[in-house]
Amino acid sequence: MIIEDIKIIDILQDGRGVARTEGKTVFVENAVYGETLDAEILAEKKNFLEARKINTKIKSDYQRKPPCPYFYECGGCSIMDINYDTQIELKKNLIKNALKKSTGLEIDGIEIVKSPEFRYRNKIRLQVDKDGGLNYLETYSKKLVKIDDCLIANEKISENLDRIEKITKDINQKFTASIEEITIRASENNILLNLQGNFDNNAIAYIKEKYSTSNYIINLLIARDLITINGEGYLDYKIVQKEFKISANDFYQVNDYQIENLYGVAREFLGEKQKLLDLYCGSAASSMSINDDHIVGVEINKNAIEDAKENAKRNGLRDYKFIAKNAKFIDSSFIIKEKIDAVTVDPPRAGLDKDVVKTIANAGIDKIVYISCNPQTLARDIKRFMDRGYKLEKIKAVDMFPQTMHVESVVLMSRK
Ligand SMILES: C[S@@+](CC[C@H](N)C(=O)[O-])C[C@H]1O[C@@H](n2cnc3c(N)ncnc32)[C@H](O)[C@@H]1O
Repeated sequence: MIIEDIKIIDILQDGRGVARTEGKTVFVENAVYGETLDAEILAEKKNFLEARKINTKIKSDYQRKPPCPYFYECGGCSIMDINYDTQIELKKNLIKNALKKSTGLEIDGIEIVKSPEFRYRNKIRLQVDKDGGLNYLETYSKKLVKIDDCLIANEKISENLDRIEKITKDINQKFTASIEEITIRASENNILLNLQGNFDNNAIAYIKEKYSTSNYIINLLIARDLITINGEGYLDYKIVQKEFKISANDFYQVNDYQIENLYGVAREFLGEKQKLLDLYCGSAASSMSINDDHIVGVEINKNAIEDAKENAKRNGLRDYKFIAKNAKFIDSSFIIKEKIDAVTVDPPRAGLDKDVVKTIANAGIDKIVYISCNPQTLARDIKRFMDRGYKLEKIKAVDMFPQTMHVESVVLMSRK
């Protein structure tokens, strides 16, 4: 079935357009914010319709020619075809609507710290085809899109992409389709390549012999095992005049321009120095940027915790403890025993486990700074804190991901 002349009034986090027709909401693939279009219904659900754009009837005022030649096929960026100021307005709406839906709070004019639009990512993940070519995945499918460059990858990654592809081609043409995926991470001084796939002993021996003197730091990831081919296997990053060791599988924020801004907002919200419990601390780049000392960090990735300890030494901390544990297994008595004044949380997209909210509230913590990459789970968790006597004090967002509908938010909550 075809529906005609529907106007796209919003964009979802996954990039689909939102329209309304005859009392129903329609989610439209490949739609541009602000345009009027005809769409084919793909599925009819109880409260909404899923559809695909057939043709544009009235062009959007916000539309621009996407500067990347792969935009229409590649699933990496979803809103490069609208101007950056409008992208920011859409993200404000995304956060506002999520908060309103979960908490009933209506917050207008949420501030978002803008980023340079392009060349901001210090990390990209690409699919490697059987001949070793580098690809992204197509939107809404698993089809490969061959690329020669990526406009949101930083200069260092972009300048090295050809040379990196020579390596993946060499390996995959000798040992058919051994590399399936490559993650490229760049620091100021180095590039690290994580090659993921199936490598037999011959392939490993070949890679070791040929690439042990490579200028790149190369790791092989085979299932859950990591083999370091050369170098130390990790990168060093410098932010807020501190140095951080970040290993191959540690989390590190991807936007070089915005990382200090993000942690700066959290630091400002936290206020004067205090003893901080940082849940989901990673290798503690965030904790040590937000607080100079007196940190207890909890993180599920054991290797990141080892790096956090090393980072504490590197940066001269005197009062710290880093624990490799699932955050949901921290209990209130631990928080009280450690004399914690404030808590920061920075969970993955799924947000906080319910038990984490309960534990923090039961420990009587007055101040919580929540860093979130997902407005939906952030809003859900704020509501859970509100139900336990907390109030949303401040919210500010930092655009870590231009050309996509992703955005990072920082929230301060305090006990009423
Ligand atoms: C968004 S990252 C934040 C890391 C750190 N705060 C930073 O900015 O570098 C989320 C971190 O949570 C960790 N994590 C995921 N699930 C967890 C859990 N259940 N308990 C503790 N840590 C978890 C991940 O390994 C990851 O390091």
